[in-house]
Amino acid sequence: MLPVAPLMIEHRLIERLIRRLGVEVERIRARQEVDPVFIERAVDFIRTYADRCHHGKEEDILFRDLARKPLSPEHARIMRELTEEHVQARGMVRALMEATQRHAQGDRSALESIAELLAQLAAFYPVHIKKEDRGFFVPVMAYFTKEEQAAMFAEFWEFDRQLIHEKYKQVVEELLA
Ligand SMILES: [Fe+2]
Ligand SMILES: [Fe+2]
Repeated sequence: MLPVAPLMIEHRLIERLIRRLGVEVERIRARQEVDPVFIERAVDFIRTYADRCHHGKEEDILFRDLARKPLSPEHARIMRELTEEHVQARGMVRALMEATQRHAQGDRSALESIAELLAQLAAFYPVHIKKEDRGFFVPVMAYFTKEEQAAMFAEFWEFDRQLIHEKYKQVVEELLA
């Protein structure tokens, strides 16, 4: 199995959440109402799973190792774009959290910002994922030997193994703060 297979499996779960975000945009606009619990859970998914766990393995392991290889100009460009897109996604989530907070404090105008940011995230991820799945992950495996691929696969598992501990240590620290 290619080491990037787990990343592609993760894409499928991210896509499911993203489709649900599109439904939520319609609901918010139709009802002129925000479900703060939904937003909180969706934000947690995006921050912990899509960003820390998934983008984390892409950036901290795959892209790090690729940066040491003599990449074609095309692959180097795509990797730069993907990294920039991760930064954009973080910005959208941050803005979504801020809008949700404003809404909770009684600012009704934040409702449309929430809907708009959810719509932006729903539009962003499918394009980003398609770029990785179709044009990048599989072809760039050719830069790695079988041994390097096996080491990457093992490092992905170790990254995931540590994450649950990191996540809940942070939860406790936040609750105690
Ligand atoms: Fe990515
Ligand atoms: Fe990805």
